[in-house]
Amino acid sequence: MIILKTPEEIEKMRIAGRLTSEVLDMITEYVKPGVTTNELNDICHDYIVNVQQAIPAPLNYKGFPKSICTSINYTVCHGIPDDKKLKEGDIINIDITVIKNGYHGDASRMFYVGEPTIRAKRLSEITYQCLCLGIAQVKPGNRFGDIGATIQRHATLNSYTVVQEYCGHGIGRSFHEDPQVLHYGKAGTGAILAPGMIFTIEPMINSGKRQVKLLSDKWTVVTKDRSLSAQWEHTVLVTSTGVEVLTKGQHENF
Ligand code: MF3
Ligand code: CO
Ligand code: CO
Repeated sequence: MIILKTPEEIEKMRIAGRLTSEVLDMITEYVKPGVTTNELNDICHDYIVNVQQAIPAPLNYKGFPKSICTSINYTVCHGIPDDKKLKEGDIINIDITVIKNGYHGDASRMFYVGEPTIRAKRLSEITYQCLCLGIAQVKPGNRFGDIGATIQRHATLNSYTVVQEYCGHGIGRSFHEDPQVLHYGKAGTGAILAPGMIFTIEPMINSGKRQVKLLSDKWTVVTKDRSLSAQWEHTVLVTSTGVEVLTKGQHENF
């Protein structure tokens, strides 16, 4: 069942979304060669807890041991921060979910560690375009399949593949609510979007084959062929006329 949010809930989701994007803005300057993902985790954790007086949702979520997800190079999603240093040319997704006043905001961005390779930059940029094209499909009367089809078409046109095992999700009082928001599919299919729905769009796009593998830590998802993978995520609200991006960054225009 897809929960429609009330105006009061939407106001709380706006706050949670803004805090989420502010964590990503805050951490940007720390992402550079030599920093460990544990250090990035601790900086985000302290900011969320002490400055925002909010809760990092991943910590202890179904046993996840850290406060953020950090997914480097061929890691698709749910990477666990550790003591390995980032190195020049890495790409990293940082995924932040905060809970404020009982409501969740969820967003992730790609970051370059030093200068990216041309291949890595292209993958990150096309993946961001996939997210934006998906967001552009969000308006009352459109269907979830329209979002997935648009993302899949753009990835495929650029010779990339779409991860199918993980998807976007409704979000609100719970981290993961109905519906599942697939990043592939057929236009004109699926549930109809209606004002008051809030969900994430978070395409994971691979430069090689779409298949993924779960590592023995039971969290880290990697590409089976060890090809590069990228992901961008926003939390969006369906309005009466279109879409409001609740996790919009300071330099983004939607
Ligand atoms: N933030 C992720 C998402 O976009 C979920 C991470 S679950 C965790 O849905 F436990 F790994 F944090
Ligand atoms: Co999400
Ligand atoms: Co997320």
